Amino acid sequence: MTKKAFPVITKRVLLFISVAGFILCALIFAASYWAFNRQFTEQYDADILEIAAAARACLNPDDFERYRQDPVADQRHKNVLELLQLFVDEFDLNVIYVSAVEAPEYRHIFYFYDPVNKHGKWKPYPLGYEEDYYEESYHRTTKRVYEEGAELVRHTIKSRIGSHITAQVPVYDSKGNIVALLGAQKNVQGFVDARKNFARTVIIMVLIFGVVFVTAFTVYFNFRFMRPIMLVTNETNRFASENGKPDDKLLERGTKDELGTLANSVYKMEGKVYDNIMALTRMTTETAEALASAIDAKDAYTHGHSTRVAEYSRDIARRLGKTEPECRNIYLSALLHDVGKIGIPNSIINKKGKLTKEEYDVIKTHPVIGAQILANITQIPNIANGAYYHHERFDGKGYPVGLAGKKIPEIGRIIAVADAYDAMTSNRSYRGILSQETAREEIQKGMGEQFDPDFAKIMLAMIDEDKDFKMREQN
Ligand SMILES: [Fe+2]
Repeated sequence: MTKKAFPVITKRVLLFISVAGFILCALIFAASYWAFNRQFTEQYDADILEIAAAARACLNPDDFERYRQDPVADQRHKNVLELLQLFVDEFDLNVIYVSAVEAPEYRHIFYFYDPVNKHGKWKPYPLGYEEDYYEESYHRTTKRVYEEGAELVRHTIKSRIGSHITAQVPVYDSKGNIVALLGAQKNVQGFVDARKNFARTVIIMVLIFGVVFVTAFTVYFNFRFMRPIMLVTNETNRFASENGKPDDKLLERGTKDELGTLANSVYKMEGKVYDNIMALTRMTTETAEALASAIDAKDAYTHGHSTRVAEYSRDIARRLGKTEPECRNIYLSALLHDVGKIGIPNSIINKKGKLTKEEYDVIKTHPVIGAQILANITQIPNIANGAYYHHERFDGKGYPVGLAGKKIPEIGRIIAVADAYDAMTSNRSYRGILSQETAREEIQKGMGEQFDPDFAKIMLAMIDEDKDFKMREQN
């Protein structure tokens, strides 16, 4: 199994942490914005209310009716206007206005206004301007001032004259009746702009923080949790497919946490499974070797023949680049290639001198007998094929079937060349061990005739590397 760059669990955790991070960021933003806004509300509202209350003290509510009769000529009215103008200048206000309600009609009338109109945008109502108090759209807050005596601040954001706040307080006459309303209005566009900038800065910072946090967490999570999990997963997959030795890397983590304990358990489990497999493998090999010795013991002249043929065959398989389990199967198959000889009478096998045709025909049945004996072994692939086809020849002149070329199963062609070389480099009743040169020549001559040329070529290479002629029967 290949290691995935981004495991599924990490993706899920990333999604979860992103959503959680987004919610956290939104909360941080909301809290910051709220705190910033609270400062505005508390400080600005208190200030403007204080200014409105102070301005109210300059008024003479009992004179209002007289002002209405002739506002311009009245000197006391002019004095009040001048005082209010001082407030407007001192506190940088848009306007201070005073309006009254005439019971019972409740018509809304402005008595005072900002005479300088310093901010340009504020279009003052003319003195004596009237508007309908009962209109649907009439300010509800203004009604609360008149009717409940409330002192409040109205926030107007993004109006045609810019963002501003207006404190409205009721004005009482000497009898304690509400006869008018005083409004003090201040421009807060600067604050609104600052608040917008603050929000933008907070959003950017929170986003940067969020991205950094999510990235850092993902990297940490992947390294701290997913890497060890993937290590264990990959190792169990590898072990399941190869049955190789447990991987020591699993022990790197120690047992500091549950993941380390898991890795350790997997390591121990693999170790036990591996030991059992090895024991079974050894037992199989030892059993096969014992059986091979029994076969060889039947023939006074073939001591160690089966084992040597098995070793040469395995060497050929390794040079062909076969896997170790494949090489092992070839070894076992070659070890038992002559098992059929058990069914051949000793008198024929150990006969001194030339065999008759009939006797030779009996000898030639050993591949078939061998294949029958091995047919029931299912755990070693092709083991019966080794016995059945090892006397086939590449030119088709062999037995028991007479197959030719690559139609002969590979195991048969491998054992054939190993078997022939060992026969030549072993003692026989009728001759001694042939020299390495002679045996080599025979293999070379047999290429494409008796032997598969590819495997014969490998055998020749093995012979050439065998400088001390160790590949032979040892006395
Ligand atoms: Fe044989």
